[in-house]
Amino acid sequence: MKTDNTAPKGLEDVIIGSSTLTLIDGHAGTLSYRGYDISDLAENATFEETSYLLLYGDLPNVQELRELRQNLSDEREIPPQLVELLRGFPNDASPMDILRTSISALSIYDPDLHDYSPEAMLRRAIRILSKTTTMIAAYERIRNGTDVIPPRADLDHASNFLYMMRGDAPEPAVARIFDKCLVLHADHELNASTFAARVTASTLSDVYSAVTSAIGALKGPLHGGANEAVMEMLEEIKVPEKVEAYLKKAFSEKKRVMGFGHRVYKTIDPRAIILRALSKELATKNGGKEWFRISYKLEEIMRTEKKLSPNVDFYAASVYHMLGIPTYLFTPIFAASRVTGWTAHIMEQYTDNRLIRPRADYVGHHPRKYIPLAQRK
Ligand code: COA
Repeated sequence: MKTDNTAPKGLEDVIIGSSTLTLIDGHAGTLSYRGYDISDLAENATFEETSYLLLYGDLPNVQELRELRQNLSDEREIPPQLVELLRGFPNDASPMDILRTSISALSIYDPDLHDYSPEAMLRRAIRILSKTTTMIAAYERIRNGTDVIPPRADLDHASNFLYMMRGDAPEPAVARIFDKCLVLHADHELNASTFAARVTASTLSDVYSAVTSAIGALKGPLHGGANEAVMEMLEEIKVPEKVEAYLKKAFSEKKRVMGFGHRVYKTIDPRAIILRALSKELATKNGGKEWFRISYKLEEIMRTEKKLSPNVDFYAASVYHMLGIPTYLFTPIFAASRVTGWTAHIMEQYTDNRLIRPRADYVGHHPRKYIPLAQRK
């Protein structure tokens, strides 16, 4: 039955509820978390401060930040059964499939899974945020046949994450760049994965189920999976001189160029501007100038030829690569940061919940009569 209130395909520009978390102005190209501009946060706030801001509503004072750091540190260990589960997965399994399955399995070990009080919800958000990094790092170590490295209580969130993955604590400047990446990915209003999380939460299902739904949505190449596709493209292009020919072919084949375009931003994604600067900084300091030059050339041609600007995933690819992170971990790392936004949105959903249950415009067959199997052609 055709109705006159059919939403546009892909729910473009449809406002499905209110939120106090994140504001995007797609025309101005601005983004803020709880009123703080993203460039201000990336420049000045750590990921822990940003997480506190998203989860609690305000920036923490000294004592509050100390407590959050302690709580994150206390939650870093994962149950030994989960490490065994990770060991049992085939080496060539998709890291996002592994992350989705491990987060889902983590719920089984949550001591107060069905306590929906605000205090328990916050405890659980911090628990998931912290343990996600340990699970990704443990997976990386197992995949490479190396020992799983226990977390270090003296390191901040970003440094400990890199330490558990690589086996040595990063230099403070490197850790800060990674920390900024986590800040930039922490939330982004009602993107596909956050919407998936809120839909699941709206049935009053538990947080792990909602985060598991979100991870499934993030995995797709039109969403978080784009950062890995960007790196594969940069590696295929290899040198800046080949960018033009690569794009010419992509345009003639009507292929999407990963890391460009956005549903909401009609101008450049502000996170891409910050990541572009980080990519340039790393290219100068750590070598890998070619990655930045290829990326920049792609950006220039995409803008002139297609009027498309880079999104968050575009320069994140070269940044992560120059930080020594393998491509297959790019999307899991996106998830490790976005867990903050997901859990903040899930809590917001619970606070003023109504089941999210839209309708579909039925365009199928008219009523038909059942034909017995033997009479069907
Ligand atoms: N490369 C080439 N063309 C692109 C493009 C890209 N990355 N992104 C959008 N376009 C073109 C589409 O082909 C379409 O052109 P048409 O109208 O001539 O058919 C037009 O721009 C609108 O695209 P549409 O898919 O309707 O926009 P959307 O709002 O549904 O999609 C994205 C938004 C992000 C899914 C889309 O830009 C995309 O696929 N980007 C690449 C994947 C990516 O980087 N994802 C991460 C997002 S943060």
